[in-house]
Amino acid sequence: MTRIAYVNGQYVPHDEAVVHIEDRGFQFADGVYEVIAVHQGKLIDEELHMERLERSLGELSIAWPISRRSMPVVMRQVVRRNRVHNGLLYLQVTRGVAPRNHAFPDHDHSSLVMTSRPTASFDKEAIAKGVDVITVPDIRWSRRDIKSISLLPNCLSKQQAVEAGAYEAWFIDNDGLITEGTACNAWIVTKDGELLSRKADSDILNGITRQSLIKLAEKEGVSFTERAFTPDEAKAAKEAFLTSTTSFVKPVVRIDGQSVGNGKAGSLTRRLLDFYGAHMDGQA
Ligand code: PDD
Repeated sequence: MTRIAYVNGQYVPHDEAVVHIEDRGFQFADGVYEVIAVHQGKLIDEELHMERLERSLGELSIAWPISRRSMPVVMRQVVRRNRVHNGLLYLQVTRGVAPRNHAFPDHDHSSLVMTSRPTASFDKEAIAKGVDVITVPDIRWSRRDIKSISLLPNCLSKQQAVEAGAYEAWFIDNDGLITEGTACNAWIVTKDGELLSRKADSDILNGITRQSLIKLAEKEGVSFTERAFTPDEAKAAKEAFLTSTTSFVKPVVRIDGQSVGNGKAGSLTRRLLDFYGAHMDGQA
């Protein structure tokens, strides 16, 4: 089956999908993106992703490439044309094509690209095996709340994790507190059973999975505190896990080689994973 990409108004074979060399996304990483899960053919938390996209675009004064109302039409077409039942939809908006000049161009023809691909379906038992993370200094800019395509520090740190045999790297800020992962939000359950995730200000991306999980925890009567924590607190925690569109709710069983709790997925993490699975099934 030929994969199809959407590029500025056209559905084209993936192999032939190209953008202009003077696209500001290519030259300046001047753009934003979203990754949305496709679960049983449905886009999960689509509205929350659209709200975050609107916010990211607004913060950078990038115009909608097509109307907000038309976006879901194209999104569904891309998923359908690629016959994705379980997988991901990627969409990227840049400030468009203009002669290279740091200041914004005086047009508002932003560029829109979308792709979709299948991934392994949501498998609770596989996820519950858990993963290792390492900690690294947070070398990113100070507007991490914007879902910018400028991801070089994230790529460098993720590569460091891979080379250390870990799944993810969690960033540590100048105050010695964990911000988030290179592509996920960080959570712990303290020895006292307190569920913690850092406040979503400009220091982290407010993950959609994070937002949904907070609502699910509240609905299920699990108390939750929004506060930052240190790597030492995380290593001494009862449980740790990470959340993202691509990883769902994934237990973290080792941090910098040190076991968290008994080195296995914790019971609250498993419960939250169950809630999240049901949340996705509910939308499918
Ligand atoms: N990344 N923090 C960062 C830095 C991220 O890049 C992501 C997601 C998250 C979690 O956000 P969400 O729950 O909305 O996926 C937090 C995506 C998946 C990526 O870059 O591929």
